[in-house]
Amino acid sequence: MGLTTQQLISWKQQGRPIVALTAWDYAFAQLLDKAGVDIILVGDSLAMVALGYETTLPVTLDEMLYHAAAVRRGVKRALVVCDLPFLSYQESISQAIHAAGRVLKETGVQGVKLEGGHPASLETVARLSDIGIPVMGHVGLTPQSVHRLGYRQQGNTEAEAERILSEAIALSEAGAFAVVLEHIPANLARIITTKLPIPTIGIGAGGDCDGQVLVTADLLGLSEKKPPFAKSYLNLREIVIGAVNDFSQEVRERKFPESDQL
Ligand code: KIV
Ligand code: NA
Repeated sequence: MGLTTQQLISWKQQGRPIVALTAWDYAFAQLLDKAGVDIILVGDSLAMVALGYETTLPVTLDEMLYHAAAVRRGVKRALVVCDLPFLSYQESISQAIHAAGRVLKETGVQGVKLEGGHPASLETVARLSDIGIPVMGHVGLTPQSVHRLGYRQQGNTEAEAERILSEAIALSEAGAFAVVLEHIPANLARIITTKLPIPTIGIGAGGDCDGQVLVTADLLGLSEKKPPFAKSYLNLREIVIGAVNDFSQEVRERKFPESDQL
C-alpha cells in the first residue's frame, strides 16, 4: 500500500513538506514515483501539455480516465489523484458521484480533485467525501474558469482574499483532504495554511504552503510556454531536439547504424 490521505494530513502536523507533480502517462509517472514524489496528480493541464489544447476545458472524462489508468500503472508509492474535468461534475451531485466513481473504479487512483469553493461545489465535496472518495479542493486561480477569470492572480483585493479564505475553510469542513492554492498572494496562502487542519498545496502561492505542486512539463522545460510562477529545472525541449538532430545527421551521413548496431 502506498501513501494515504491520512498520512499526508499527519505530515502537516509534523511540518513535513509534501511534494506533488503532475503526470499524464506511464513513463513519467514511473520516474516521478521512483524519485519519491508524494502526490502524483493527473491534472487536466494534460489537455494543454499532452493533448495540445489551448485551455483545460476540452478534455473529456474518458480522456482523463485513459491517462489516469496509464499513470496508475506506473506508481507504487505516491498517492495518485485525478482531476475531474470541466463539466464532468458541476451539473449535479449525481453527475459528480458518477464521474468520481468511474475514476476510482476504472483507474485505481485514490482520489479526485475538483475546482471551486462555491456552495454547489462544497455540497459535492461533502457527498463524495461521505461516500469514501477522497477529494482535493482547488481555489484561487481555477483554470476551468479561464474565460471568466483569465490567468491573473486571484485574491489581491481584500474582498477576494476573504472569499478565497472562507472557501478554503469550507472545503476543509466539507471533508476535503487537501486543497490546492493557485496563483494567490503568498500572504493569503500563509493565512489559509495556518487556519486549515488539512494540507495546502501551493502553485504560485509562495513558500509557506504545506506542499508545492508544479506541472511536470514546466519543471522539465517541455512546455512551449509556462506560467510566470513555474520553475524549469531542465530544458528538455533543447535536449530532445539535440538528440533528434544527432540521429537525423547520422542517418543522412549513413553513420547509423554502425555494424555492431545491426
Ligand atoms: O491540472 C493541473 O495540473 C493542476 C495543478 C497545476 C494543480 O490542477
Ligand atoms: Na487542473
